[in-house]
Amino acid sequence: MVKIAPSILSADFARLGDEVREAEQAGADWIHVDVMDGRFVPNITLGPVVVEAIRPHTRLPLDVHLMINEPDHYIEAFVKSGADVVSVHQEACPHLHRTIDRIKELGAKAGVVINPATPVSLIEPILPDVDLVLLMTVNPGFGGQKFISRVLDKIGQVRRLLVERGLPHVDVEVDGGINAQTAALAAQAGANVLVAGSAVFGQADRQAAMATIREAGERAYSRG
Ligand code: DX5
Ligand code: ZN
Repeated sequence: MVKIAPSILSADFARLGDEVREAEQAGADWIHVDVMDGRFVPNITLGPVVVEAIRPHTRLPLDVHLMINEPDHYIEAFVKSGADVVSVHQEACPHLHRTIDRIKELGAKAGVVINPATPVSLIEPILPDVDLVLLMTVNPGFGGQKFISRVLDKIGQVRRLLVERGLPHVDVEVDGGINAQTAALAAQAGANVLVAGSAVFGQADRQAAMATIREAGERAYSRG
C-alpha cells in the first residue's frame, strides 16, 4: 500500500486550514509540511505556530520535513505543536543518532532525509533507529522542480538494505517532482510514501490528482 502525502508548500497559505481539510477529504494519507530556514535551503517557509494552526483541521498525521540547520533546537516545539513524524537531514545533523533519539523520546516518529547527491552509505548505520527514510528527488528549497531520476538507484538501495536488515516497517518516502509518471518509477524502486506538492495543490481537482498518483504508485509498487 502506498501513502500519498500532499505538500502544503504548494497550497494557498492564506487559507491553509481549509486546504488541509480539503486534502483529507480528497483522500490524502498524510499532510507533508515543509519547514525551511533560509540557511540550509535558499527559502523560508514556516515554523511551529503554523503547525499548531493547522493541527485542529485534520486527523491525518502531520509529516514535518525540517530543512533547517541545527534542527535540535526546534524539535520539541514542532512535536508540541502537533507534528506526528519529524524528519531531519543527515547533512544538517553532526550527531544524527542523538537527534533521532530525541525525536522518539518526545513521542514522534523519526525520519532521516538525504539530498540527491548524498550517498545511502551515510545513513546505513542509523537505519535500525528510524521509522522513515526520505530520499529527496530534487534539491530541496522549492516546489515544482524536475524529478532527478538518478535517485531511483538510491531508493532501490535503501529498500534492499531494509529487507536485508529485517526492517520492513520502515517507510521509504520520496519528495520532489512527483507526478503519476515519476510516482510509478519511485514506487517500482521501493518507495511507499509519495510526497506531491504542485501535482496535487496545483491542480483544480485534487481528488482526481491524488487518485491518479495513487493508482500509478500502487500498480508499480505491487509489481516491484
Ligand atoms: C522541496 C520540498 C517538497 C516540495 C515538493 O524542497 O521538500 O516537499 O513541496 O514539491 P513538488 O511536488 O512540487 O516538487
Ligand atoms: Zn518536503
